[in-house]
Amino acid sequence: MKSEEHKQTFATIASYYDALMSFVDYPAWVSYIEAILTLNKIKEKTILDLACGTGVCLELWWQKGYNIIGLDNSIAMLEVCKKRLTQISNDSIYLINGDMRNFVFAKRLPIITCLYDSLNYLLTEEDLLSCFQNVREALDNNGIFIFDMNTVHCLRDEWGNSTFHRQDANIHSVWTNSFNPETNISSLTLTLNIHKNGEVKTIREFHQERAYPLITITDLLSRAGFEYNFYRHLTFNPAHEINVRIMGVAKK
Ligand SMILES: C[S@@+](CC[C@H](N)C(=O)[O-])C[C@H]1O[C@@H](n2cnc3c(N)ncnc32)[C@H](O)[C@@H]1O
Repeated sequence: MKSEEHKQTFATIASYYDALMSFVDYPAWVSYIEAILTLNKIKEKTILDLACGTGVCLELWWQKGYNIIGLDNSIAMLEVCKKRLTQISNDSIYLINGDMRNFVFAKRLPIITCLYDSLNYLLTEEDLLSCFQNVREALDNNGIFIFDMNTVHCLRDEWGNSTFHRQDANIHSVWTNSFNPETNISSLTLTLNIHKNGEVKTIREFHQERAYPLITITDLLSRAGFEYNFYRHLTFNPAHEINVRIMGVAKK
């Protein structure tokens, strides 16, 4: 038997997201960010993760003794996140259903992160600027914003107009990409065939990510009032357009 569903981005795949991302070494990402925090002499232990998704990184931060706050605009992703975090802690955990282009905190924060392509989901320069401005406003005076982004090289040359297949546990996924060189937007049709009890359930979602040249990102950060550094992801080498993923470190 085969059933088929079509829903909005992340609403359908939320409960399969962790299985799909099982290849990502999140502990290495978090250790890398810890090294960035140490390098920048940040000692405070409260972190807001924007676009926290299912909360894998929030859990890792919590295990390291951080106070954690997550924000995401997908209720489905936040539900998975809440389930994960209530299993590890009875303390009050702050999860906010909000938009990273438009959020306000009464209290200033020392550390804000935004990881795993999330900023690429902002499809206009205005949205990216608005996010940077909101982040700056939410940070305390020595606050730091740490984020990754996929580069134009990644979306254009690595993903391009290609189709990838993956098998993660009982999920066969098909990733069909198409890149628009005029907008630097990559459109993805993601099809999941979930095998369970001899049946196959098929789910489809449409995703779009936009890549921004480094010069555009730095210009927007400057306009938001930040000083910044960029590294090739998971290194302390300077970032280049030829990198697949870059890591931004922005300070007030
Ligand atoms: C690729 S997932 C990354 C999730 C998580 N950061 C991780 O590392 O696994 C992108 C996330 O960005 C969220 N997102 C996209 N646009 C957003 C927005 N404007 N405001 C808040 N969250 C957003 C999605 O709901 C999704 O959870």
